[in-house]
Amino acid sequence: MADARKPEFVSFASRSSGVLVLFCEEGLKLGPACRRALAPTGDLLQRAATADRFTGKKGSTLEIVAPSGLAANRLVVLGVGKAPRFKAHDLVKLGGAAVGKVPAAASSATIVAELASGAFKPDQSAELALGTQLRSYVFDRYKTKRKEGEEPPAKLQVSIAVANVPAAQKAWRARDAVAEGVIMARDLINEPANVLYPEEFARRAGALKKAGVAVEVLDVAAMKKLGMNALLGVGQGSRKDSRMVIMRWNGGKKGTPPIAFIGKGVCFDTGGISIKPAAGMEDMKGDMAGAACVVGLMHALASRRARVNAVGAIGLVENMPDGNAQRPGDIVKTMNGQTIEIINTDAEGRLVLADVLHYVNTRHKPRCMIDLATLTGAIIVALGQEYAGMFSNDDRLCDRLAKAGQATGERVWRMPLGPEYDKLIDSKFADMKNTGGRWGGSITAAQLLARFVDKTPWAHLDIAGTALGSPQTDINKSWSSGWGVRLLNQLVLDHYER
Ligand code: BES
Ligand code: MN
Ligand code: ZN
Repeated sequence: MADARKPEFVSFASRSSGVLVLFCEEGLKLGPACRRALAPTGDLLQRAATADRFTGKKGSTLEIVAPSGLAANRLVVLGVGKAPRFKAHDLVKLGGAAVGKVPAAASSATIVAELASGAFKPDQSAELALGTQLRSYVFDRYKTKRKEGEEPPAKLQVSIAVANVPAAQKAWRARDAVAEGVIMARDLINEPANVLYPEEFARRAGALKKAGVAVEVLDVAAMKKLGMNALLGVGQGSRKDSRMVIMRWNGGKKGTPPIAFIGKGVCFDTGGISIKPAAGMEDMKGDMAGAACVVGLMHALASRRARVNAVGAIGLVENMPDGNAQRPGDIVKTMNGQTIEIINTDAEGRLVLADVLHYVNTRHKPRCMIDLATLTGAIIVALGQEYAGMFSNDDRLCDRLAKAGQATGERVWRMPLGPEYDKLIDSKFADMKNTGGRWGGSITAAQLLARFVDKTPWAHLDIAGTALGSPQTDINKSWSSGWGVRLLNQLVLDHYER
């Protein structure tokens, strides 16, 4: 399988020479367009199915190479089981699974968007197309050599055969924006930290201007002036200067308060003076996944001209040990005047977010704020890689996020907050300390953030488990998932567009 071009939509009647993918229901049932496509092959499908004991069971496949009578060089029949009822996300996964059956050497594939019961609706075909794009993603820009006999993969052109081409193309436009946003996030996360440091990250976020997003970049001097010492303290041990980027998309009614998205952008997290062990430290190039998601999301919202006012804000730093690095025991004063005693310099994400949350809350007066952060290893212990941890002061916002999670497959699980946990971050010397001990590590991190959001409805998503080292799924084979772009796009779509 290969990096894909943009999918195109063709009519059921079109015939091409690449791979042909059909969906088949239990009992070897095909839709009318598929039956017409296979008519020239006579009883080939029946004979092959008998030979392979293929009946169309969910997840099973039948493959026929060089099927005689067809223009296609390979026929792939994907079983979808008995009378399937596909929700949007099932179709995304189905599109991904279909591309997964296309050999790496293939340069074109046609997927027929039809079940036995009839053609997919335009929206359904577009979801299928979204899945093909996400599955095709590869990050190979630093591979200059191939192994002996290994051909470079072809750039795959996926065609989706549909009943109504213009309607499917129209439905695709918004999904195209989302696919681009997810891929943008994955690219940023996969990029190594010697290439993607705060300044360079800010530069790349600047590309959103092309989509109509207003982008503002604050440098160290500007943040000093604002008193963002918690954020700056994290970055002070690095040769690379810190940045904050604020992105605005005004697609909603003038004057309506924006929905705000805040991302942790630690371009590399060594742990600082409380340095991390060597094993696996390379993964900490992805400690900016929250920020990457915010950039991808803002791209998606702007590109699909979402009718919403949205703010994206990301705190970009590099956490390094150095003669000028922050020490355990140091006390920093945040932008809102509260003081934090640094116990462990590896608990840096919350320090960055504290200042960015307060900045966004006071400058932009958002109707709600959602932050994304690869904040704690403890959330991976608690939830594994299937759910992100959700911490919030607002039940309604949680409800909406949980529903959007079910719809997109980017699921969230609510975790507790409360005064009992809050006590754990009381400090002997300052207003609070930046760690609360081993127990409930994700919760005490969230408790610190809660002290910087005031009364604004807010949700914190701890994505340490879902964003990086992603399990291989039908829609992602990459190390980074781009988790959160589809979730938050769905949230906006369902509740915040006028
Ligand atoms: N970036 C890490 C959390 C992390 C761990 C993200 C694994 C992705 C995968 C974070 O900055 C961190 O180091 N957290 C510490 C907090 C501790 C020092 C209180 C942790 O989780 O161990
Ligand atoms: Mn850390
Ligand atoms: Zn970190």
